[in-house]
Amino acid sequence: MQYVNLGAAGVKVSRICLGCMSFGNDASWKVEIDQARPIIKKALDLGVNFFDTANVYALGRSEEITGECLKAVRDEVVVATKVWGLMGEKPNQSGLSRLHIMQQIKGSLKRLQMDHVDLYQIHRWDYETPIQETLRTLDDLVRQGLTRYIGASSMFAWQFLKALETSDRLGLARFVSMQNHYNLAYREEEREMIPLCKAEGVGLIPWSPLGRGFLTGKYKRGGDWKTPRYESDKVFPPRFFKPEDFDVLEETEAVAKEKGVTPSQIALAWVLHKGVTAPIIGATKTQHVEEAVAALDIKLNPNDMERLEAKYKPHPIIGHE
Ligand SMILES: NC(=O)c1ccc[n+]([C@@H]2O[C@H](COP(=O)([O-])OP(=O)(O)OC[C@H]3O[C@@H](n4cnc5c(N)ncnc54)[C@H](OP(=O)(O)O)[C@@H]3O)[C@@H](O)[C@H]2O)c1
Repeated sequence: MQYVNLGAAGVKVSRICLGCMSFGNDASWKVEIDQARPIIKKALDLGVNFFDTANVYALGRSEEITGECLKAVRDEVVVATKVWGLMGEKPNQSGLSRLHIMQQIKGSLKRLQMDHVDLYQIHRWDYETPIQETLRTLDDLVRQGLTRYIGASSMFAWQFLKALETSDRLGLARFVSMQNHYNLAYREEEREMIPLCKAEGVGLIPWSPLGRGFLTGKYKRGGDWKTPRYESDKVFPPRFFKPEDFDVLEETEAVAKEKGVTPSQIALAWVLHKGVTAPIIGATKTQHVEEAVAALDIKLNPNDMERLEAKYKPHPIIGHE
């Protein structure tokens, strides 16, 4: 396994992060603890030390599963979770107010069975809470030892820069990572967010590096796409499956065939060659983790990179609110 610093922070993370959104019981594509445990064990055995979940994933069940499966190795792993999403229908059960963040960190720690997380991330921008309020609260959590670092997820680059500048101006904890949507079939982040993060020393930890499974090769142009994820992950079908997405996928499959590896591995190798810290992979089988870790050894030359990128057509924004 390769380990690198998370952006400008001192903490070292594996170059593959295991995403735990697929652990839970609220959709047919997710797996419960009996299937999640061997996936997490496989990741640990292969040297993965970086795990990502969120309070909203299966309304807390993902955090419970993640915490239970990691408790024996708590001090050896870097655990990330998130706040912002809807945890109930009442006012103050979502967003980035001081009140909600303070409640949610307690809930996340309880479900994870931990006394702190290592990376606490804002899941999206909150248009109704001043960023100063959010940043002061996150800074308090760092000072109280409830999280070691803070990070952010999908938003516009102007928002992220405003947050970074505000924390610098007020002398508050600064976001060390950006978790954004980035893969061979969705590259809009190359315009603003990725250059911003590189200039600011912010670690890039992209989500859905396989386009929720689109780039794995199991979906063929004009095919019958009846997988549990296609049928029960409601945001999946509208995001990909357009003719231009299949153009990118088919080039990925061609490169994979020539190199004797899988399309998933080429998609991960590509993102790893784009200067990111660690893609956050999703897995519902141990084999998914094995393939992802093996992708670290794949070398793509400039010609491979050019071929993989040539067919991409700009997409409408996917991910921000
Ligand atoms: N911050 C955010 O807003 C945000 C949003 C989305 C995700 N995330 C994070 O990113 C993580 C990953 O998201 P994702 O699940 O969408 O990621 P992904 O890596 O793009 O897709 C994962 C899916 O691809 C399939 N797959 C993976 N490896 C495979 C292989 N070797 N062969 C065949 N199929 C394979 C599996 O689908 P099947 O189960 O259908 O086989 C798996 O569930 C999440 O767990 C979460 O931590 C964050």
